[in-house]
Amino acid sequence: MRLPPTQAAIRVLQEEHDLLSAMIRGMEYFVRTVAEGGKAPESKVFRAMLLYITEYPDRVHHPKEDHYLFARLRERSNAVDDVLDTLESEHKLGDRLVLQLQNALTRFELHGALAFGDFSNQVQRYSQFYHGHMRLEEDIVLPAAVQYLNSFDWEEINAAFLANDNPLAGTDYKKDMQKLFSLIANIAPPPVGLGPET
Ligand SMILES: [Fe+2]
Ligand SMILES: [Fe+2]
Repeated sequence: MRLPPTQAAIRVLQEEHDLLSAMIRGMEYFVRTVAEGGKAPESKVFRAMLLYITEYPDRVHHPKEDHYLFARLRERSNAVDDVLDTLESEHKLGDRLVLQLQNALTRFELHGALAFGDFSNQVQRYSQFYHGHMRLEEDIVLPAAVQYLNSFDWEEINAAFLANDNPLAGTDYKKDMQKLFSLIANIAPPPVGLGPET
């Protein structure tokens, strides 16, 4: 269940989860379509979606979680340390899974139907993995943050989540990612996007 966004950081975190979820669900939709005998979207659509789910977490989302929300929460309480350990290692695991997904897509592009099953499985696996990850953050970490963080902590965390960039790299990645999201919306065929029918 979703917490009311009583802090800007909570709202931004939930919005970023929604964007990632939309992208992953979009990939699942296309994979399901192909499995049911429909046509695959152009390769560049899958490629752009994969680029999004590779770069958005790494460049925009995870640094704010790791270095602000999780770090401050660890300082204030040990109550959810185990969960934070899991989530931090999942941030690294996610990078590996997404790489496997990229390789599976390349094999699908090279070998066609023969390699589709593996690509499809990897998409399902990644979706389960990342949705589970986001649920843990929303169901366990955010309520703990509301319970244990003080107003000074929130001031700092809100500022980090509201910054329209990666606060550590000082680069406006979020804007780049917004452009990529719009591009995908424009090239992906309906009902996922507004692009041409395949
Ligand atoms: Fe995360
Ligand atoms: Fe997250």
